Amino acid sequence: MTKFFTEESSVQAVNARMGDDINPRLKEVMTSLINHLHTFAKDIHLTQDEWDFAIDFLTKTGQMCSGERQEFILLSDTLGFSMLVDAINNRRPVGATENTVFGPFHVAGAPEREMGDTISLDGKGEPCLFEGCVFDLHGEPIEGVRIDVWSDNADGFYDVQQPDIQPKWNNRGIFTTGMDGKYSFIGIKPVSYPIPDDGPVGKMLASLGRHPYRPAHMHFLVTAPGYQKLITHTFVGDDPYITSDTVFGVKETLVAPFEHINDGNVVWHSPFDFVLAPMAQSD
Ligand code: BEZ
Ligand code: FE
Repeated sequence: MTKFFTEESSVQAVNARMGDDINPRLKEVMTSLINHLHTFAKDIHLTQDEWDFAIDFLTKTGQMCSGERQEFILLSDTLGFSMLVDAINNRRPVGATENTVFGPFHVAGAPEREMGDTISLDGKGEPCLFEGCVFDLHGEPIEGVRIDVWSDNADGFYDVQQPDIQPKWNNRGIFTTGMDGKYSFIGIKPVSYPIPDDGPVGKMLASLGRHPYRPAHMHFLVTAPGYQKLITHTFVGDDPYITSDTVFGVKETLVAPFEHINDGNVVWHSPFDFVLAPMAQSD
């Protein structure tokens, strides 16, 4: 084999440069990455213009990032990559609640609330009672579970997207289960919304003939000592985007009932139980 770079030997030429005394996992990851990347360029016969376009796209994606905006996560989400990495790393036993995408709108430190409290502070939307129980795999209720919840408001925006319009911590709260494992709170029936699409990722979606919408959902981050962290949503099943979520987050088991009721000013009821898997031995 020639000592110099050629089209045919490109993968070997690059991978052979790695030192012997490097992190073995880094070596494994980079060897495979170089192999797939070079094979991809050869398969599609990547043109110089296309590669220049890709570099420009990635540059703009980076430039769009700030403390409040993470365009690379949106890119990963819309390419289905976030959900793939999540699936690979959260293979759960049958019966345990499934994970889905975390998204960029969680804010740590939301107010701790009492069971039954209202999280919707802007008076908009249709009040909905969310309730259920957190169980282990044997059907026993779990005490001391932290349930951190967040959703958009009736206009389809999270409070952090509208800091001058919505009250701080609107549609957010943290609840801790008692001995019965139960939770309940009043939010609003969530609505579908577009992910931020005024940057390169929005342009990419448009040029692929894709819409930027997520079906209506309530976010849950459910944690308890000794159990695997559960990052999930419950979805509104009759949402028009339920089968075309732009970030591929919908799983059939996460579609929750939203029943129309008339209990004072509460007009929807969404019952949903969570089942936590125990921490794996190596965790
Ligand atoms: C969300 O559900 O909040 C979300 C997830 C991925 C990308 C954008 C938003
Ligand atoms: Fe969301």
